Amino acid sequence: MKILVTGASGQVGTELVTALSRKYGNTSIVACDIKSQKKSSVNFREADVRDIGKIKSIIEEEGISRIFHLAALLSASGEKNPEAAFGVNMIGTWNILIAARDLKIERVIIPSTIGVFGPDTPKINVPPTTIVRPRTMYGITKYASELLGEYFFQKFGLDCRGLRYPGLLSYLSPPGGGTTDYAIEMMAAAARGEPYECFLKENTRLPMMYMPDAISALIQLSEADSGKLKRRTDYHVSSFSFTPGELKNEISKLIPDFQVTYRPDFRQQIADQWPESLDSEEASVDWGFHSEYGFSATVGDMLSHLKSPIPS
Ligand code: SER
Repeated sequence: MKILVTGASGQVGTELVTALSRKYGNTSIVACDIKSQKKSSVNFREADVRDIGKIKSIIEEEGISRIFHLAALLSASGEKNPEAAFGVNMIGTWNILIAARDLKIERVIIPSTIGVFGPDTPKINVPPTTIVRPRTMYGITKYASELLGEYFFQKFGLDCRGLRYPGLLSYLSPPGGGTTDYAIEMMAAAARGEPYECFLKENTRLPMMYMPDAISALIQLSEADSGKLKRRTDYHVSSFSFTPGELKNEISKLIPDFQVTYRPDFRQQIADQWPESLDSEEASVDWGFHSEYGFSATVGDMLSHLKSPIPS
């Protein structure tokens, strides 16, 4: 098996490439991103997912058989630049699916997001089948991508799989342009001994997950027996939910003089459309999803790593 990871230099991609290389060996992984990467532990190919010719030639040249398609603009970046979000998230996903179908890729895994939800979505313990109606370009393009994945499965027999991530907490690679990024920024400021000005209100509750659990879930789904999957591209996974105020209190247990002020900006409106918690039951039943890290363990682990960063 030879695996292509798009968006390989991003927050999830960086850690997924490491985990996949550990599991399948460095030579089985090809990392691909629009940003060039000088130091890569695996074969790195620079490419824009909007360029189908380039994507197809990489797949052919490298003998790719499985794709993790991660390249995407997140919610806040998408609202700042809707055209770019449409291009990367929509055309990019279309190109990956067409290339996968034409070049007989055996499996395509595409993470989705709580961004697919909108103001009409229920708030608590939301199951995968519910009202979505996203209002952000990120949400619109990611929801359409879920549906396209299902379409390619039904129509062409392409084995597409995906899950909706909550906000992801990690310390190795900085997040870029998300609304849930406040949580990482807050912990990073605390670890540096600095105060933090939060761009969401103190009581904005959102579902979240620590990166090691997010990576395990994606790999688990990618390996699941196809016959056991009752859903295709929209499994829910989530570990816990918290507000900025609760995160501040948790951090204060370890760093007592940590200070946070609140100045909500345009990202508050995005967060207000998302659920407070997700129901991950179907992922648990169908392919064994579970989380190792709870809220306190995640904050403790994040802070200890942020305080002693790995030299690059
Ligand atoms: N972390 C993402 C964002 O905030 C949500 O999937 O945009």
